[in-house]
Amino acid sequence: MASVPVIDLNNLTTSPTADEALEAWYKRNPPISDEDANPWDVSRAELYSKDLWRKPFAEMREQAPINKVEGGVHGDYWNITTYKPIQHVEALPDIYSSDVEHGGITIAEPEFDDSDFQLPMFIAMDRPKHTGQRRTVAPAFTPTEMQRMEAEIRQRTAEVLDGLPWDKPFDWVDKVSIELTTGMLAILFGFPWEDRRLLTYWSDWAGDVELSVAEDLTEQRRQILYEMGAYFQQLWNERVNDEPTPDLISMMIHSEAMRDMDPMEFMGNLVLLIVGGNDTTRNTMSGVAYGLSQFPEEREKLQQNPDLIPNAVQELIRWQTPLAHMRRTALEDHDLFGHQIKKGDKVVMWYISANRDEDVFPEADKIIVDRENARRHLAFGYGIHRCVGARLAELQIRILLEEMHKRRMQVNPTGKMRRVHACFVHGFRELEVELSKY
Ligand code: HEM
Repeated sequence: MASVPVIDLNNLTTSPTADEALEAWYKRNPPISDEDANPWDVSRAELYSKDLWRKPFAEMREQAPINKVEGGVHGDYWNITTYKPIQHVEALPDIYSSDVEHGGITIAEPEFDDSDFQLPMFIAMDRPKHTGQRRTVAPAFTPTEMQRMEAEIRQRTAEVLDGLPWDKPFDWVDKVSIELTTGMLAILFGFPWEDRRLLTYWSDWAGDVELSVAEDLTEQRRQILYEMGAYFQQLWNERVNDEPTPDLISMMIHSEAMRDMDPMEFMGNLVLLIVGGNDTTRNTMSGVAYGLSQFPEEREKLQQNPDLIPNAVQELIRWQTPLAHMRRTALEDHDLFGHQIKKGDKVVMWYISANRDEDVFPEADKIIVDRENARRHLAFGYGIHRCVGARLAELQIRILLEEMHKRRMQVNPTGKMRRVHACFVHGFRELEVELSKY
């Protein structure tokens, strides 16, 4: 077990980014070549950074929607690639566990097995513990709370859009997606404004499952995540004896339900909310810019009829699917539509593929802004773990589209772009764009 380092909060690590560290690591350890790889081992990060994931998933949906991969990048696992069996697995949480003790929620194995580091988060817990903890944060995401937040989110979105240059190209990921997501979370949680980019930095180091393969980066990652923990610990310490304020941290500290929560659990859930709301919303915002540019007729439909915005929000989330998968571990032998899943097997639910299931979404690769059943997408998961922040994410994307429409802002990618190299977070590192009016 590694010892807990002393953290100097005035001297936090801010480089390299998780992406830079991994890029350097891949130079030292080149991945297996495409020709030698099992084409259905869709845990290979290259499939996503090179945008080559559609073909293997389409093949699997057609030929073997449930299949087992042996010796994949992250070991042996079951691919679940169509809509119905994913819903089925999610509806059986007592058989298919999310608990970190059994393997957690991503295809990568949990790296840190020392309990002094592992922050307990309810996304990686089973019933009954999950139920109680989810109940404590759910009130922060009710429709009434969303209404309360709307004006502030709108004002912040307007400020960011009004600060964009119309006469030269810029990176939409940096100037819009990251700025809006971290800014919003900083406002919601009362996180110190000047430090808000730390949220992005930490979120990337916390959420990048590829790092688990790069064993020699584990210590670096541990140090950075310790720093994140220490920072939140300080926020908690500062606020625990203060009068309640309207931010979420204070709300959570002072809520009836949370009052008795163990500080580590409180912290774990805080980190979960921040990390959970960061990459996901960020990459949907990038998907909005890129996706609409790929389907100009649909974009025009939306530009002409802004009443379609709420439906387009769902469709864009479906199309982007910013978390490609969630993982479960079987707690007992189970027959899954004729496939014998064994106790201990790793089961990977590919939302990115279920959201392209043509039996549910005809012309699934296409964005159709008035698609009738766009809301049925599985990007937020399903069942007891369905994203608790879904309403907040939808609100942010809806406001972004509405504010873009008010400014008649059309976003045109220039072609310079870089996708995330990962099989979990699905999105963009960089997306250069130019603006025009319509
Ligand atoms: C859970 C996706 C935004 C907080 C999840 C799950 C997915 C997901 C796939 C797991 C569902 C499952 O296992 O069945 C997304 C997407 C988002 C988004 C696509 C944006 C487009 C947010 C936001 C927050 C958030 C904004 C909070 C600020 C959470 C939490 C959980 C969760 C706390 C755990 C729920 C549980 O285990 O009961 N999300 N999320 N998410 N998400 Fe989100």
